[in-house]
Amino acid sequence: MKRESVMGRAALAMVGLALAGQAFAVHPPPPPQTPLRDACEKEVGYRPKAGQKGKDAIWAATPDEFVNRMLGMARTTADDYVIDLGAGDGNFAIAAAKRFGARSLGIEYNPELVKLAQCMVRGSGAEGRARVVEGDVFKDDFSKADVLTIFLLPHLNQCLRHRILAMRPGVRVVSYLFSMGDWEPNDLVAMELDVAFLWIVPARVGGRWAFRQLEPAGMSFTVDLTQIYQKIGGEVTIGDRRFPLLGATLYGDQVRFAFRDASGVHQTFSGRLGPKDITGDLRAADGESIELTGTLQGALHPAPWAEMDPKCGKFYGK
Ligand SMILES: C[S@@+](CC[C@H](N)C(=O)[O-])C[C@H]1O[C@@H](n2cnc3c(N)ncnc32)[C@H](O)[C@@H]1O
Repeated sequence: MKRESVMGRAALAMVGLALAGQAFAVHPPPPPQTPLRDACEKEVGYRPKAGQKGKDAIWAATPDEFVNRMLGMARTTADDYVIDLGAGDGNFAIAAAKRFGARSLGIEYNPELVKLAQCMVRGSGAEGRARVVEGDVFKDDFSKADVLTIFLLPHLNQCLRHRILAMRPGVRVVSYLFSMGDWEPNDLVAMELDVAFLWIVPARVGGRWAFRQLEPAGMSFTVDLTQIYQKIGGEVTIGDRRFPLLGATLYGDQVRFAFRDASGVHQTFSGRLGPKDITGDLRAADGESIELTGTLQGALHPAPWAEMDPKCGKFYGK
């Protein structure tokens, strides 16, 4: 699917949301009125309306099918802590706990929605693993999440982006309908009017790395890595010769690159960034493999792409 058409769908959906309350059809439609929902709305004396105003975004619910798809896309497991930013009626928190066995937290600004969501959590049997609390996504800490789920608005995603990029490498982020500015997603799924994006938080690796075979001491070379989000590239210097990196990828903290050495042999490195260095294996095309450690020389390159967009200061009282 072409990016333009996906963004076109999202924009169409947003128009639906923006015009909600003026007798236009809203996409996505309200969630089904189940017996549990009826009982909870009765208990808390509150029925939310799709398209109703919220602090920074209106309330509308991600369709259940997409909730499950998105948690699946993020490869959610029982070991994960899932946080939903702008939790609405608790649909993501409940599904993460019930269908994926994860621990989950929903952060929601509207206190009435919080009460409704808490009732839905209790009634669905997710209590103990799922929680929904009153909070503000621009004030509260979500850095402990392994999986972040988001259905907000494009400019809100963009203003959360620097905090997401500061999270542990490998955190999975899924957003319904809206992307994250110029941070391209690692994956997306699209179906009719719906689209969801997945990002994997990349480690910071842009810089100069000295790679060495430690035991037995042997091969050494320098790698200059350039980085914008998860896109990396650069070159290898061996002795006084330089070779471009081929097919370099960064997936969380996993670094892979290849180069063709002076003898024309393809060498492929596959390793992981640890607290201090990158360790992994360099495999020659003829099958021989050696273990290498890369140590950062000097400081990481500046990463303007990981910084807060100056337009976002208003969300952080700046
Ligand atoms: C589009 S709804 C998404 C609800 C749910 N996450 C889902 O995907 O079905 C966005 C929710 O964010 C809430 N919200 C808006 N601004 C917020 C903020 N600053 N902090 C926390 N919640 C917020 C709204 O009240 C609304 O319930």
